[in-house]
Amino acid sequence: MVDDTRVHSARRYNYWLGGKDNFAVDRESGDMIAAAFPGVRITARENRGFLRRAVTHLAAEAGVRQFLDIGTGLPTADNTHEVAQRVAPSSRVVYVDNDPMVLVHARALLTSTPEGRTHYLEADLRTPEKILADPEVLDVLDLDRPVALMLVAVLHFVRDDAEAREIVRTLVDALPSGSYLALSHATTDFTDAEGRARYLSMIDAGQVDAYPRTAADLALILEGLEVLEPGFVAVSEWRPDDDGPRPDAGDVAIYGVLARKP
Ligand SMILES: C[S@@+](CC[C@H](N)C(=O)[O-])C[C@H]1O[C@@H](n2cnc3c(N)ncnc32)[C@H](O)[C@@H]1O
Repeated sequence: MVDDTRVHSARRYNYWLGGKDNFAVDRESGDMIAAAFPGVRITARENRGFLRRAVTHLAAEAGVRQFLDIGTGLPTADNTHEVAQRVAPSSRVVYVDNDPMVLVHARALLTSTPEGRTHYLEADLRTPEKILADPEVLDVLDLDRPVALMLVAVLHFVRDDAEAREIVRTLVDALPSGSYLALSHATTDFTDAEGRARYLSMIDAGQVDAYPRTAADLALILEGLEVLEPGFVAVSEWRPDDDGPRPDAGDVAIYGVLARKP
């Protein structure tokens, strides 16, 4: 059931990206956060740029042909399978999201090339074992071959550090060596003390639900994986593909990281 009385992160993010698939509650929440943090629309845009560049790298340079994209979001430009299949039409992508509205749109819009496959699963990141045991997921993805796990702007909705670590460990353990994790994650590492205090007070008031982590927190979550160059940087600084001016990392406030399972 699609609930239009409760804010949903996918719809609010769609609003920040200039999309139309959102309700009044999502716009109100989006405007309130944007009033306190005017950079948030930049964050959304830059985060999409990271996703595009990371998938392009994975498909073109690393030769990855399978993607497990958890926290899909509402379809927009350059969705994971479009970017991957542009490089390699045989790429297979499983999209997972816990918002039923995302899945309705995804089924309609995220259609595969004839050579590749796409699949959509309504499931929660917090129950990774269910995702990994789903027969259709296992029909699309061969877990004996490298998979790129995409956790792009979703892990920060899991507040508890131990739970976040366990989720990533469960998912990564199921994938073979040579698999990758593309992660983007909210942070206040680039924010000044006043902005950080403001952000934390909005979390306490239940006005934002993206819990920031530091680079050190994320390094613990990624323990056992090789973090590839350039390491932990704002998504906008992650292997930019043009020389244009880039926004201030403090406005972006979200890390982009690519790691490989040895
Ligand atoms: C901010 S959007 C990110 C979309 C896309 N990954 C991107 O970066 O452009 C977060 C998405 O994660 C989904 N989501 C949030 N919590 C989730 C959970 N526990 N399990 C699965 N999906 C979740 C939301 O429904 C939303 O579609």
